Amino acid sequence: MTEPHVTAHWAEGPDNGRFTITLHGAEALPAGYRLAYTSQLRTLSGAISGAELQQVDGSFHLVAPLAEGPLSFTLTNLSFTPKHSNDGVMSAFLVLPDGTTQDIPTAPLSCDNPPVDDTPPPPAPPAPGLGLSPMPAEIALTGSAAAPAGFSLPPDASAALRAAFATAATLFATLFPDQPQLFEAGPVQLCHVPEDMGEGYRLAFQADAVTIHASGPGLLYALITLAQATHHARQNPALFTYPAAGSTIADSPRFQWRGAHLDVARRFYPMDDLRRFLAIMAWHKLNRFHWHLTDDEAWRIEIRAFPALTEIGATRGWGQAMPPLLGDGAAGQSGHYSQADAAALVAEAAALGIEVIPEIDIPAHSTAALRALPHLIDPDETPDSYISVHGFKNNALNPGLPATLDFVNTVLDELLPIFPARVFHLGGDEVARGAWDSSPAARRLNLPGNSAIQSAFMRRCQARLAAEGRIMGGWDECAEGDGVAAEDALIFAWQSADLAKMLSNVGYNVTFAPATAYYLDIAQSHGWHEPGASWAGMTPVQATYETEPSDWVGQAEKLAGVQACIWSETLVSKAIFNHQVFPRLCAVAETGWSQPGARHWPRFAALSAHFPRL
Ligand code: ACM
Repeated sequence: MTEPHVTAHWAEGPDNGRFTITLHGAEALPAGYRLAYTSQLRTLSGAISGAELQQVDGSFHLVAPLAEGPLSFTLTNLSFTPKHSNDGVMSAFLVLPDGTTQDIPTAPLSCDNPPVDDTPPPPAPPAPGLGLSPMPAEIALTGSAAAPAGFSLPPDASAALRAAFATAATLFATLFPDQPQLFEAGPVQLCHVPEDMGEGYRLAFQADAVTIHASGPGLLYALITLAQATHHARQNPALFTYPAAGSTIADSPRFQWRGAHLDVARRFYPMDDLRRFLAIMAWHKLNRFHWHLTDDEAWRIEIRAFPALTEIGATRGWGQAMPPLLGDGAAGQSGHYSQADAAALVAEAAALGIEVIPEIDIPAHSTAALRALPHLIDPDETPDSYISVHGFKNNALNPGLPATLDFVNTVLDELLPIFPARVFHLGGDEVARGAWDSSPAARRLNLPGNSAIQSAFMRRCQARLAAEGRIMGGWDECAEGDGVAAEDALIFAWQSADLAKMLSNVGYNVTFAPATAYYLDIAQSHGWHEPGASWAGMTPVQATYETEPSDWVGQAEKLAGVQACIWSETLVSKAIFNHQVFPRLCAVAETGWSQPGARHWPRFAALSAHFPRL
């Protein structure tokens, strides 16, 4: 007897082709069963043959057979053209007539002529040099020496050096627990000359000592540079060297904003994963952790005034207000961060020189919040009157309801004290066309259309933040129409690289985060079996590494820096996370820190095998 399992096939055709799903082993199932599955590939018009499509909710689908016997059905008028085998059915389960469920296996999406992997071959190895990423601004080498066994503190070490040494020791032990430790009692003594250079530092190498000129964050970065040079020279002595006595390194970052964004809504990342992620960020001198805490698929941060936000909004599963999504089985998944967790993470990040920038993604992307707090829905709005790009119906907070601003203010009341960073990100992306069209409350605002409703709302949120001395972070849609005030905003340019130029030209401060180069969930080749999303093309590591922000941002003084964005829809396992994120994250980090001329693809490519993973 065939155990139930699902296969899926895509065939070319009009309107993004034909998506056929087959349930094998259906013959043995009791009459009245249904098939639930998750897939980002949806029909935009409900076009299905061979089964009844009973429910679509984001990536969740529920299908009933039309007759007994084999089940195979085809969806057309699809939401996109699949390009990779992960674009099909991500998970499936049976809903049986007695109300129980049974998870069943699914196969990767097949197609008739799968495109082959076109990843370019790795470059020829570089000439031997320092194994550093990001690359420092100025290196003056007198020659190379054997990597030392480690570093030690002099008895009269400054308190600042002791603190940085302890942090570097923990960082190295966290990232490389199996390696001999570098910051214990090694033969090379560190000497500290306090000098305020911000994040910059200077290193002078002697035979059995290193003098560090730095203060504040620069001190830790100096130790990280020492650790990287030593670690890589030990790992691969044929390619990577350690500076001989008399050598110097003088360094400071190119950009003040060197960010990594992580979407913890589509998938929950336990605190220990976040801690390790922060350690990896610090290793590459990234200094802004953009924590994408809420989205349609979950609300992940405790708000004491609204416990339902996490009780309901952070719990997905069959029979719950939030269905299983994006690869979940029937049991779904749940997880959120308490305010104490967030405060602890902010403190741990600060010790590593990293600011945590929270994001509450509003007004769209709010399905989880609206399921948890139905008083935020206009009771007179037509249900299902618009659909988001991710397949959620009526997913935007409603600026026409007084309760909406009360909600935002209460969330900010609770979160602003926990997140001291100047920038607080409020999303602003992807409000669906037609949002609020059928809401009498929104129409009573008497504003000429949705773009005006959105910008008036975002401006009010921005004013609240400005009153508290904060700046609003927002995706580039926040600058559309009569957008938010430029002086109190930092805009994250994601939709296209040249949008960054336009935004900087009209006065916005911009963080460069183009989906076409810095979105790390985008696939790395055209290969059918390469994982990832394809809506922004495909981005090999080299393309990410060689993207130069100044080619795209008109007003250099308006460019705050760069940011990699990790969206989690397709990151279904740690192995896939690591494959997608590394080393592209490190490529963005190097662009954020190093001067353009210091970037060298063969060196980076050779080094990247030794970068830590999650
Ligand atoms: C985004 O990718 N929606 C910011």
